[in-house]
Amino acid sequence: MVQFSLPQNSKILKGKYYKDKSGSSNIKKVNVYRWSPSSKENPRIDTFEINIKECGPKVLDILFKIKNEIDPSLTFRRSCAHGVCGSCAMNVDGVNTLSCIKSHSDIKGDLNIYPLPHLKVVKDLVGDLSTLYKQYESVEPWLKTTAGEKTSVEIQQSQEDRAKLDGYYECILCACCSTSCPSYWWNGDKYLGPAVLLQAYRWITDSRDEERKARLKKVADELKLYRCHTIMNCTNSCPKGLNPAKAIASIKKMLATS
Ligand code: SF4
Ligand code: SF4
Ligand code: FES
Repeated sequence: MVQFSLPQNSKILKGKYYKDKSGSSNIKKVNVYRWSPSSKENPRIDTFEINIKECGPKVLDILFKIKNEIDPSLTFRRSCAHGVCGSCAMNVDGVNTLSCIKSHSDIKGDLNIYPLPHLKVVKDLVGDLSTLYKQYESVEPWLKTTAGEKTSVEIQQSQEDRAKLDGYYECILCACCSTSCPSYWWNGDKYLGPAVLLQAYRWITDSRDEERKARLKKVADELKLYRCHTIMNCTNSCPKGLNPAKAIASIKKMLATS
């Protein structure tokens, strides 16, 4: 069997254990990844015994209970708490998801919570998404049309054309798909990844946009687009039920037939 020798401070160690003090019989053990850039210590997994009878139903509720009642230094991102903003994305029990819509009762046994995979960790459960945001900016995610410059009249779209955006405009850029994509793990600095390519397609396919050809040309690149090998992890992991792999396939088809 292959043996890997990892740098000392990359090894994840066993962390602190916080015992329940309520005496409840409804205890869930929650294992949470912890790492802080301000300490020279290795990452660790802290374990918290949580009385789930005194906790809301979602994984995010557990994180708040830990932060409010046990360890205020626990760091995670969240905003809307309703599956709309995408900021609470993390890896829960091996699956990338939104912690505010994931029920902890779905997970039998211990609950394991990690940051989204293959991102540089900022602190605890917060991953660094700055590369992904730069890539998003690179596809110029706004309507490009001269029609809107000349008049204040609304640019209309037929119902059929509007329907073509369904399944794409709903993307909340949570990055669950991109951080579950093996091609993005290994080439994330060059390959745009499923989240950004889905966004690119959303603008390519908008009937009101006048830059379709230029947009297609921009992504038609061995590294930016064709690193997708149709592994489908992205589609399986989208918490909004979207299909980034289909968007990527549609871009490839448009390029092959244009
Ligand atoms: S396609 Fe789904 S998983 Fe990917 S960023 Fe958008 S909402 Fe998140
Ligand atoms: S289908 Fe493409 S984008 Fe999706 S996980 Fe596979 S390689 Fe990544
Ligand atoms: S907090 Fe906004 S999607 Fe979870």
